[in-house]
Amino acid sequence: MLDALGVEHSEHLFGGNAILDGGTPLPDATLAACREADGILLGAVGLPELEGKPVRPEQGLLALRKELGVYANLRPAVAEGIDMLIVRELTGGLYFGAKGTRADGTWFDTCEYTRAEIERIARRAFEIARSRGGRATSVDKVNVLHTSRLWRDVVTEIGAADYPDVPLDHALVDSFAMTIVHQPETIDVVLTENTFGDILSDVAAAVTGGLGLAGSASLGDEAPGLFEPVHGSAPQIAGQGIANPAGMLRSTALLLRHGLGRTEDADALERSIDAALAESPTPDLGGTATTRDLGDAVLRALERSPTL
Ligand code: IPM
Ligand code: MN
Repeated sequence: MLDALGVEHSEHLFGGNAILDGGTPLPDATLAACREADGILLGAVGLPELEGKPVRPEQGLLALRKELGVYANLRPAVAEGIDMLIVRELTGGLYFGAKGTRADGTWFDTCEYTRAEIERIARRAFEIARSRGGRATSVDKVNVLHTSRLWRDVVTEIGAADYPDVPLDHALVDSFAMTIVHQPETIDVVLTENTFGDILSDVAAAVTGGLGLAGSASLGDEAPGLFEPVHGSAPQIAGQGIANPAGMLRSTALLLRHGLGRTEDADALERSIDAALAESPTPDLGGTATTRDLGDAVLRALERSPTL
C-alpha cells in the first residue's frame, strides 16, 4: 500500500519480535529510525507468550509514545450518522505515574497530571473542535478523583480564555460510556485523560463497526507522529489471513493527512477503504473477504481515484 501511495519507507523491529530478537521491545536502532522519519506507521503490539512477563511488547509502545512526546491521540469513530473524535491524552496519568510494590505487599499505580499536561491536550482538542465547527465534551471523574478536579478547572479556564466560540460541556466517564453506546450521534469532540480515553475509544469503535476499522494518530508539537490501529494483535486469528486491515489502512490515511501533509490523498484513501469495505467485507463484518482481498479492493479503488 505504501508503495502504491509513493511513500518512501523502511521497516524496523519493535514489540514482541524485537524482544525475541534482542531482549528489548524498543531497540535503540528502531528509536533512532523513528526520530528520523516524517511519520511512523506502527503494527499492533502484543504477543500472548509474553503476556504478564517482566519484559512485554506494550512497554515498547509506551516508551515510544513518551520518547516522541506524542501526547495527543486522535481516535475518530465514524459511521452512518456518527462523527465523533476522541482526543485522548497519551503520555500522562495512570500509565506513567509512580507505580510499584510497598513493603506491606500493596501494589500501586498512581494517576498524576500537571497543569501543563492538561493545558496542551485541552488546547489541541479545542483547536480541532474549532476547525471542524464543532463542540467539545471533556470527560473526567470529578466526583471522585483529585486529578479530575484539576482537569476540569484547567479545561474550563482554557476554554473560557481562548476558545469562547467553542461550546464546551463536561461529563462523568461512567455515564458518558453509556452516552457513547446509546446516543453516539450527539457526540462531537471528546477530550479525556489517558486511561479513560483507552477505554472509551474501544467503546466508540465498537458502536461504529468494531475495532478492526479504527485507526489513530498520535501527535506531539513536532513531527514525527505515530500512526497505529486502535486494535491489538488479535492472536486468536493470527496467521489465518482474515484480519481486517482497515484499522491499519485508516491509520495510513491519518499518516498521509497529519504526518505528510497529503490531505487529498488521505481523503482518497479513506474513500477507497469505505468502498472496499462495502465491496469485500472481512469475516468480522459478516463477509468472507481475506485480508489480501480487502487490500486488493482498496488498491483497485485507489487506482480509480482521480486525485492519485
Ligand atoms: C491502545 C492500546 C495500548 C494502550 C496498549 C497496547 C499499551 O490498548 O493503544 O489503546 O493501552 O494505550
Ligand atoms: Mn486500548
